Amino acid sequence: MPAVSFQSISKSFVTPRGAFHALRDISLDIEEGEFFGLLGPNGAGKTTLISILAGLARATEGRVSVLGHDVQSDFAAARRSLGVVPQELVFDPFFNVRETLRLQSGYFGISNNDDWIDELLHHLGLSDKADANLRQLSGGMKRRVLVAQALVHKPPIIVLDEPTAGVDVELRQTLWQFIARLNKQGSTVLLTTHYLEEAEALCTRLAMLKHGHMVALAKTSELLAQASTNVLRFKTDDALPALLSAQARVTGRIVQLPAQNAQDIERQLAALRDAGVRVEDVEIRKADLEDVFLNVMARPDEQDAQTLESAI
Ligand SMILES: Nc1ncnc2c1ncn2[C@@H]1O[C@H](COP(=O)(O)OP(=O)(O)OP(=O)(O)O)[C@@H](O)[C@H]1O
Ligand SMILES: [Mg+2]
Repeated sequence: MPAVSFQSISKSFVTPRGAFHALRDISLDIEEGEFFGLLGPNGAGKTTLISILAGLARATEGRVSVLGHDVQSDFAAARRSLGVVPQELVFDPFFNVRETLRLQSGYFGISNNDDWIDELLHHLGLSDKADANLRQLSGGMKRRVLVAQALVHKPPIIVLDEPTAGVDVELRQTLWQFIARLNKQGSTVLLTTHYLEEAEALCTRLAMLKHGHMVALAKTSELLAQASTNVLRFKTDDALPALLSAQARVTGRIVQLPAQNAQDIERQLAALRDAGVRVEDVEIRKADLEDVFLNVMARPDEQDAQTLESAI
């Protein structure tokens, strides 16, 4: 039985300008024990899909089940199996950190949960803030509390909607170590993030959403394998020759060119030299998930509706 099963999920919102289709026919099974990543640009539909999973929004069409429990008709059982870290920071500001976590435990009918609460506070670097009022916490600390809150009832499925947005480097690392350990111990993880390095390092399988369509679904290793194998990266202040600029990814002074092999790189360097482009800090690196993501997202929209197998 899959941990999470989305079956033909569509979601449309009524807006003054007519129906807006936020999700279109999404079908996806996440198996128990997977570390699964849901990627997509802003507005792609990730949070909408997670809201439907968490029972916070209703799908216009389709069904979602969590360990076999329908999220609508069997809400309590489905909800108990999930620990959801929402993207938005929402809190009752009158409680301190420990009270918030005790309340959340009570919501799931768990008393005497202090040992686990202490462990969560420790792993999330919150031990010294246990008695602080939520109003007194910084944005990144509030996000840590949200993570603790989601894990307080030891859910078998952990759903993280951009858990590391606004979180400092050190905590990102400790948070991922902690989540990876829970995953090793058997928890299923569903993650959305815009940090593609994190997704590449952590997730064994990925789905990509674009305008509410699923445009890729594959193992991370398969997605990486279908990318061009290398990227030539350099800095320049000069304009690129037309042939190269068509395929270049430019971020400020940094230029990145996809290359299949050494001959490609030789040709690119020769073209730069012939055009009189002065380059600095030249390096060759392996293509990464960000390259794959940008390729998938750059495809024309009419391909969006294609089936996954043919899209990747
Ligand atoms: N209540 C609503 N009414 C109308 N449109 C909505 C509503 N909620 C979400 N949307 C729209 O649905 C689309 C998907 O939104 P969603 O929040 O799921 O995106 P996302 O992939 O999570 O993006 P981000 O990376 O910015 O978090 C967006 O265009 C958004 O404006
Ligand atoms: Mg979102």
